[in-house]
Amino acid sequence: MFQTVEWKNNSVVMIDQRLLPNEEVYRTYTNFLDVAEAIRAMVVRGAPAIGVAAAFGIALGAIKINHKMRKGFKEEFKKICKIMAHTRPTAVNLFWAIERMKKVVKDNSRLPIEELKQILVREAKKIHDEDIEINRRMGKFGSKLIKNRASVLTHCNAGALATAGYGTALGVIRTAVEEGKKIKVFADETRPFLQGSRLTAWELMKDGIDTTLITDNMAGYMMKKGLIDAVIVGADRIAANGDVANKIGTYSVAVLAKEHKIPFYVAAPISTIDLNINNGNKIPIEERDIREVTHIKDIPIAPSRIKVKNPAFDVTPSRLVTAIITERGIARKPFIKSLKRIVGSKE
Ligand code: MRU
Repeated sequence: MFQTVEWKNNSVVMIDQRLLPNEEVYRTYTNFLDVAEAIRAMVVRGAPAIGVAAAFGIALGAIKINHKMRKGFKEEFKKICKIMAHTRPTAVNLFWAIERMKKVVKDNSRLPIEELKQILVREAKKIHDEDIEINRRMGKFGSKLIKNRASVLTHCNAGALATAGYGTALGVIRTAVEEGKKIKVFADETRPFLQGSRLTAWELMKDGIDTTLITDNMAGYMMKKGLIDAVIVGADRIAANGDVANKIGTYSVAVLAKEHKIPFYVAAPISTIDLNINNGNKIPIEERDIREVTHIKDIPIAPSRIKVKNPAFDVTPSRLVTAIITERGIARKPFIKSLKRIVGSKE
C-alpha cells in the first residue's frame, strides 16, 4: 500500500505523483513554503488531497511560528493561510481546509500558543482521517448505482492518490468490487498531465481491478461500440446548481455519454460543493504552464513558439449529470434543491 499524504514526526510526507508510475518516491517537508510549492507543482494533486496537504502545511507552518505573543502568532498564521490559498485556484477543498484551520485559531484564541499549535496539528490529522471515512461512505452509496458486470469509464484520477486514501470515483468502484461485483474499468489517459495513465491505471492495477487504458479521443468509439455502461468521475468544485468543474476533458466525456444514453455520475465529498457559487461560469479555471502541452517530460512534441492553451479544468453543465454521489447520499435533479438539502443535512 502507499500513502498519498501523511503527518510524520512533525513533518509532511507525500508520494511524488509527478514520478509515478515509474518511481515511488516519498518526499519529506519540514517547511510550509515547500508544501505550498509541492501543491502548485502537483507533487500532490486531486481536490481532497490538496485540502489535506494544505491543512498539514498550515499546521507545519504554525508549529514553527516563533512569536510568544498572540497578536504576532495570529499575523504569521494569516500569512501562512494566504500563501496556501494562492497555490491552486479551482479545487474548493483547498479553501475549505484553510477555513477549517482558521476556525481552530478563532475558536481557541484564548489558549496558550503551544496548546493552540497542538490543536492545529490535531485538526489537520482529523481532516486527513475523516477524508478516508467519507470516501468509504461515498463508496457504499455509489456502488448501488453500479451493476454487476458493468464497464465503467473514468477520467483523470479520483482515486486514493487524489484523496487521503480510497478515492471518490475510484472509491465507488472499489466498493462495488469489494461487494463482489465484476467491474471493468476504462481509464482515459487524461492529457496533458496523464493522471489517467500514470495514476489511475497504476493504483487500480495495484488493487487487481480489471483496467483498460484508452487515450482520451477513444471514449466516443468505446461508447458507440456499447462497451461502456456508466461514467464516473470526481470533481474539483460543484456549484449550487450542480455544474461540475473537473479535469479538462470531463465535459467532452459527459456530452458523449449523453449522446449514447450512458449515465454520467460524479462522486465528491460535501467539501467539494460550493453553495456560494450559483453556477459553473463563476468557477475559476486554472491555466497551467504550456510546457505540459508542448512537451512530454523534456521532449518537445510541438513546434517551438506555437500558440498554446492549457486550461486544467472544464465545467460540465448539470443537465449532463445523472447524479452526484456524496458521503451523505445521492443528489439528483433538480440539484439546486438536492445539493442544498444534502449540504444542510446532519451526518
Ligand atoms: O489537476 P489535478 O490532478 O489536481 O485535477 C484532479 C481532478 O480533476 C480530479 O478529477 C478531481 O480533483 C477529483 S479528485 C477526487
